[in-house]
Amino acid sequence: ERQEARPYNRQRLLVVANRLPVSAVRRGEDSWSLEISAGGLVSALLGVKEFEARWIGWAGVNVPDEVGQKALTKALAEKRCIPVFLDEEIVHQYYNGYCNNILWPLFHYLGLPQEDRLATTRSFQSQFAAYKKANQMFADVVNEHYEEGDVVWCHDYHLMFLPKCLKEYNSKMKVGWFLHTPFPSSEIHRTLPSRSELLRSVLAADLVGFHTYDYARHFVSACTRILGLEGTPEGVEDQGRLTRVAAFPIGIDSERFIKALGVTEVVKHMTELKERFAGRKVMLGVDRLDMIKGIPQKILAFEKFLEENANWRDKVVLLQIAVPTRTDVPEYQKLTSQVHEIVGRINGRFGTLTAVPIHHLDRSLDFYALCALYAVTDVALVTSLRDGMNLVSYEFVACQEAKKGVLILSEFAGAAQSLGAGAILVNPWNITEVAASIGQALNMSQDEREKRHKHNFHHVQTHTAQEWAETFVSELNDTVIEAQLRISK
Ligand code: G6P
Repeated sequence: ERQEARPYNRQRLLVVANRLPVSAVRRGEDSWSLEISAGGLVSALLGVKEFEARWIGWAGVNVPDEVGQKALTKALAEKRCIPVFLDEEIVHQYYNGYCNNILWPLFHYLGLPQEDRLATTRSFQSQFAAYKKANQMFADVVNEHYEEGDVVWCHDYHLMFLPKCLKEYNSKMKVGWFLHTPFPSSEIHRTLPSRSELLRSVLAADLVGFHTYDYARHFVSACTRILGLEGTPEGVEDQGRLTRVAAFPIGIDSERFIKALGVTEVVKHMTELKERFAGRKVMLGVDRLDMIKGIPQKILAFEKFLEENANWRDKVVLLQIAVPTRTDVPEYQKLTSQVHEIVGRINGRFGTLTAVPIHHLDRSLDFYALCALYAVTDVALVTSLRDGMNLVSYEFVACQEAKKGVLILSEFAGAAQSLGAGAILVNPWNITEVAASIGQALNMSQDEREKRHKHNFHHVQTHTAQEWAETFVSELNDTVIEAQLRISK
């Protein structure tokens, strides 16, 4: 068991992630506006306070000119963010290609794209080369801003090559790496042509963290089976050097959501929503429009529920917020049309002149609108086919103190391990089971809803993003001290 967390809070923290917490939108030659970025990584990182944190990452836009780069660097500095400028070709090969067409689907058990199965194909190799090049560009920026004693915390599958690049710059740098997605079974990871190189670069970090114990176990067995290294309860050992591997389940800043519910604007939104859907139960899905989120499966399950329960047809509505994401990747474009087609068919089938069963929105909502929606929801549906953690489920629970709504949650989301006791767990591939769980949720007694909510609310309030970050950083500090002691013995 770990000792009491040490007060490392004043230590400078360099948080390096592909996506900065804010994305830039160009308004003029030298003027920019900044918007909060979408996704679980950002939701969690926004909850990390206390530290002297600086963020290093890609601003999400191509800025080819110097005037624009200078102005954006200045605008981002106010948010303690430092940009890494990636040109269009790199973004295409590294972000759209290697990160989101290869690693992302693979880590979520969707396999490698057919045409890239052979390591020898040109696109695979050039995408991997761009991935390494982009990681090196991140390392250059980190190195430029690094000061002795800083903790460097690298995030996610975009930056698996970064720990190695950083240690090559300075072997004394304290480097942690955390994965926000699942780490798949070693049998899946071993299909990746660059499997060994990626594992070895991650192992250059001092501490490697995952959301769940299972992901950590998969990583260690990939290192033992693919690299032939030794796995220990502490991590992975390579010729006497230990890389510590452990689980650090993430959380949200629950207070931010709870407080928002008292804001006049949110209360107003809630009143409007209640009027708009009076007499109907509200079911809610909030996802990035991503194939791992199981949106088609969810909507088909809702259709099956309506099919089998004619009495519910005009008494329930499904609001699906699908935030567009990675829109340059063909798989995501295909998914958008697929979802639109299914929604259209179901609304045509069960809609009336005055109401439709599914409201599908291809856009994000601002924070207050989202909180209001969470708060008026009766049943939230999280049906990810695989998901590192899924913080939408946490956000929903945080906003449900008054209503005590039901969470239907995929057993393949990391959150199932923490919110499983309060949620109805489902296999999202089993449409019949999900349809039945919709009925169970809509008919659940107040007593049972309260009991389930209490469990989940307690968890969400006590396992926050702040606590997650503090635990990781303090473990990283301890790991480095222990390694130094081992060397000096
Ligand atoms: C997931 C990933 C994050 C990513 C987010 C949004 O949560 O783990 O690293 O930032 O999705 O995706 P995007 O490609 O827009 O950054």
